[in-house]
Amino acid sequence: MPIKNRLADMHDEITGWRRHLHAHPELLYDVHETAAFVVERLKSFGVDDITTGIGKTGVVAVIKGKSGSKGRVIGLRADMDALPIEEATGLDYASSVPGKMHACGHDGHTSMLLGAAKYLAETRNFDGTAVLIFQPAEEGGAGGLAMCQDGLMERWGIQEVYGMHNMPGMAVGEFAIRPGALLASSDEFEIVVTGKGGHAAAPHDAVDTTLVASQIVVSLQSVVARTVDPVKRVVLTVGTFETDSVASNVIAHTARLLGTVRTLDPEYRAIAEERVRRIAEDTASAFGARAEVTWTPGYPVTVNSETETRHAAEAAEAVAGKVNSNTDPIMPSEDFAYMLEERPGAYIFIGNGDTAMCHHPAYNFDDGAIPAGCSWFAELVERRMPVA
Ligand code: NI
Repeated sequence: MPIKNRLADMHDEITGWRRHLHAHPELLYDVHETAAFVVERLKSFGVDDITTGIGKTGVVAVIKGKSGSKGRVIGLRADMDALPIEEATGLDYASSVPGKMHACGHDGHTSMLLGAAKYLAETRNFDGTAVLIFQPAEEGGAGGLAMCQDGLMERWGIQEVYGMHNMPGMAVGEFAIRPGALLASSDEFEIVVTGKGGHAAAPHDAVDTTLVASQIVVSLQSVVARTVDPVKRVVLTVGTFETDSVASNVIAHTARLLGTVRTLDPEYRAIAEERVRRIAEDTASAFGARAEVTWTPGYPVTVNSETETRHAAEAAEAVAGKVNSNTDPIMPSEDFAYMLEERPGAYIFIGNGDTAMCHHPAYNFDDGAIPAGCSWFAELVERRMPVA
């Protein structure tokens, strides 16, 4: 079955929701207006139950199939938050909030899940329970984790969980997925190096912190190059290097490095942390300086389970006619990973066409993807919980 006719009929209405959300972006957990918009729509669809305030500002809604609450329980998730970016699209429905923008298409994800909710509440052509999850704070705030910590999976008895993200560079409405690791973990580190400041003309009386920190930056590149199995995927980047000297004739006393380690292999998170600490501390020590390392674990690896990936791919194939079921993994991270740590499930990409990349000021979600995205959610529910 291709795009569901009813959802094709709703295309303009759902596009209207998407553009409204696009014009009113909110950040992290501060998605009060977005959550209220979602709740208002869900109420008008006649869903069976709505709970707010899960994971601070998340919304969970329940739609029961034909035989009430018996049968399987499937979670469908969308993210609601925007980014601290000044929009540069020039669209007539561009962000009305300076410095905030839906630059990752979460306006589209939320609207597509709302569209599926409307369809499912109308048709109820399934036998089980669909739990719709609208989460805050995907962009760095771990809203998915906050919802899980509020008992999302247990309270609603969710047995498997599915999510979707748009992907610029893929044809609109096409799907791509893979079993196993799809997106990377993302940990952050801070290294504060303390030497001994002094006069630029008298380095022998100082411990040159800039030189020490530079040695650390160079040596950190050996973590991936010389510690990691070459067939595994790990990337380490030092993104910030600053010192307390602002003059050409002053040797810095302290330096601060900020970096990130991303990997598709969870075992390398711990190995990388151990190596980063040793290189920083021992290199500093060798030069008579001191390094303090702060390690902040971020989102885990997003791992699609085998069986649920197959279900997700079959639904996508039914909707789009074909699916790339062995797409390459990529190194951004995604906090749907926390939900996949709690339950089997799968995360799928839907094409967003030839647009600017996500997180770019000229990015926009392509409304042409809406019928396929809504249909995928709906098809998944109807296939996994067919009416007997
Ligand atoms: Ni995103």
